[in-house]
Amino acid sequence: MNALVIKNIKSLIQTEESSSSFVAGKDMSKLNTIDNAYLIVEDGLIKHFGLMSDFNEASTPNNCQTIDASGKLVLPAWCDSHTHLVYPKSRDVEYVDKIKGLSYEEIAARGGGILNSAKLMQTASEDQLFEDAMQRLNEIIKWGTGAVEIKSGYGLTLESELKMLRVIKRLKEASPLTIKSTFLGAHSIPMEYRGKQSEYVDMVINEMIPAVAKEKLADYVDVFCDVGFFTVEDTDRILEAAAKYGMTPKIHANELDYSGGIQVGVKYKALSVDHLEFTGKEEISALKNSGTMPTILPGAAFFLNMVYAPAREMMDAGLPVALASDFNPGSSPSGNMQLIMAMGSVLYRMLPEEVIHAVTKNTAYAMGVDKELGSICVGKKANILITKEIPGIEYLPYAYGENKIETTILNGVIS
Ligand code: NIG
Ligand code: FE
Repeated sequence: MNALVIKNIKSLIQTEESSSSFVAGKDMSKLNTIDNAYLIVEDGLIKHFGLMSDFNEASTPNNCQTIDASGKLVLPAWCDSHTHLVYPKSRDVEYVDKIKGLSYEEIAARGGGILNSAKLMQTASEDQLFEDAMQRLNEIIKWGTGAVEIKSGYGLTLESELKMLRVIKRLKEASPLTIKSTFLGAHSIPMEYRGKQSEYVDMVINEMIPAVAKEKLADYVDVFCDVGFFTVEDTDRILEAAAKYGMTPKIHANELDYSGGIQVGVKYKALSVDHLEFTGKEEISALKNSGTMPTILPGAAFFLNMVYAPAREMMDAGLPVALASDFNPGSSPSGNMQLIMAMGSVLYRMLPEEVIHAVTKNTAYAMGVDKELGSICVGKKANILITKEIPGIEYLPYAYGENKIETTILNGVIS
């Protein structure tokens, strides 16, 4: 038996007696915590936890590894429910164009942006993509991530989309992280399809989705439903086709305008709708009681200098909010979830408790792993993190430049 005991934990954060799916509205400002606690892990799962005063040394498994967490916090590892971390190269040249004043849409319109990555993807080798992505995964583990969703979408041809998804499949096998894959063939319209966009959508529906489903390469399907990209009608067609293969949507919506993306996502029971800078009363009421997780991507809004999604209005209306990194070379070149937490506090005025829910339970739900991850709950996977000696949870979003994580434990093993 593989066992691990963590003793003298200053605060054990995000505990649950039984697993709930997500946290919404006012409840986001409350966080279950046990001060002066212990936690026992067995065979990769959380076995017990409680007050140190109830800890019984004699009942701990033989030969187990012991960690003393005096002065430190223990939390569930972050779940990052939205990334594009398989990509060929950084796009730092465009970054300079951006500084000079070109907008995201202007860069995209002249063949930059996503199409720039798609061009490089055609010739990128599967092995190189895999190695580069593994390095990024190892990096985010150090920052405390325990689960990550990864999208295709820099292929935009059948071959290259399959190549990306095969790389994600290999990552799932090779990395200790819990990984979910999303097919995003409808990420941008290739140049040769400009003016005949519906023909590209036909190809996504008739060729890509069946091929992806045949090889079982995607857990979810995504569409960039926004002005200059895919319309509500395109999205409707793609999600209907994907539903026939059992692919649940998680879509890019309302980043650049009131695109109708949120509503079409809810219509198809999307697990999440992501970005949400342009969210008003109608969008909020569509999301109420929908089961679709509103997911904000602060890194992209910060990097592109955009308006910020109305996180407070959403929570005031009783909605849950999730925060993910959007790690990608064009609009959010970082997968550091601690930085995302700081942005959640500073830019969206979310409380430390709200931010913690937003990067653990709510993102676990948004990537369909809420039954196995996202909280400290008996029977859940032991993907947990131990902080350095820090004053309390407030310090997590406060000290935005430093890595507050000392140890990340994945499947009960120190990574
Ligand atoms: O989520 N908004 C659409 N797609 C990505 C950007 C990808 C890129 O620019 O490479 C995003 O921000
Ligand atoms: Fe994205």
